[in-house]
Amino acid sequence: MKPVEIAKGIYNVGVIDWNIRDFHGYSTHLGTTYNAYLIVDEKVALVDTVKKEFSDHLIHNIARVIDPKKIDLVVSNHTELDHSGGLPRVMHRIGEDKPLYVSKMGKKNHARHFPQQWNYQPVTSGDVLELGKRSLTFLETRMLHWPDSMFSYCKEDGVLFSSDAFGQHYAGQEMFDDVVGDAIMPHAKKYFANILLLYAPLILKLVDQVVAMGLDIKTICPDHGVIWRKDPMKIIDAYVRWSKQEENRNKAIIIYDTMWHSTEEMADAIAAGVAEAGALARPMKLREWDRSDIMTEVLDAAAVVVGSPTLNNGLFPTVADILTYLKGLKPKNKIGAAFGSYGWSGEAPKLIHDALAEMQFNLIDDPLKIQYVPQEDGLEKSVELGRKIGSAILGKG
Ligand code: FEO
Repeated sequence: MKPVEIAKGIYNVGVIDWNIRDFHGYSTHLGTTYNAYLIVDEKVALVDTVKKEFSDHLIHNIARVIDPKKIDLVVSNHTELDHSGGLPRVMHRIGEDKPLYVSKMGKKNHARHFPQQWNYQPVTSGDVLELGKRSLTFLETRMLHWPDSMFSYCKEDGVLFSSDAFGQHYAGQEMFDDVVGDAIMPHAKKYFANILLLYAPLILKLVDQVVAMGLDIKTICPDHGVIWRKDPMKIIDAYVRWSKQEENRNKAIIIYDTMWHSTEEMADAIAAGVAEAGALARPMKLREWDRSDIMTEVLDAAAVVVGSPTLNNGLFPTVADILTYLKGLKPKNKIGAAFGSYGWSGEAPKLIHDALAEMQFNLIDDPLKIQYVPQEDGLEKSVELGRKIGSAILGKG
């Protein structure tokens, strides 16, 4: 990716990772980018770096704008290695003694990642770094999504360097919201559902804080994906909506796995029942769908129905996986139900039911379990469960 000028003297010098398909368990069907930003003023600043293996590419991009040795300081908005992995190469190239601005927690976290004794300059919210005509104001955003996360804001240009927030795993040469258009929103939604959902209460507080500070945000520069320059409020408003988790659509996601198709037949029958009641249903078989794509559907589903065969007196492994993942991300305001076929012991539906109860889902029925292959009565019970779920979604249950 060639350096792209975002505002006069501010460049994205990051890189495109076209071929990554698994980002620590998150499916990146289109790849991603690691954005890094160069601010050329009386002082030259680099905001964030890239994954270690792209370090040389980053330095090459910087060199297309300015001699990398002219960089006076680096800001590292959080320590995760997709943005800090390039620090050793960058610091070695620009001078190991150059200041490295991090949050206080960032200093501790960087020191736990890198043995180098860099010239750390810890900052807190409200601290201002003068660059010349421009300045950077720091805003700590703890746990969004790391303990050391912070934003850096250039008030003179209205540019917010937002670290991972407002990002998307999207690789393309068209790096602005106005160029990609609404096609970017599903990627932003998936990113939110899988990385930020559990921090939803903190996001709502942060948005209130930013509004109270009266920041005039013209451009949001995240560390992944497109830059929001046409309508930065569009992604901020979406984050507020997604964080509130109040706008569930009239749909049920039926997540299941199956050994001999019996639990699958139940899933399809439940989906038919949901549709009969007038709501939407989408069965998602776990070995065919990536957990991160399922989670995206869960974000605005009114009901989450989970089914598993019983294997070795317990859950099918993929079902245990998705329950662990769901529990961690803390989806709220969901109707829930559990089901599954079994051979002789039949523990799985109850285990799912208990897991959903622990997540405070509104469970509308006892777990539905059917021995071996569902016959006509078993399928009718499954359809009936679907009807109850559909009615509950539509507020008639
Ligand atoms: Fe928290 Fe993109 O790293």
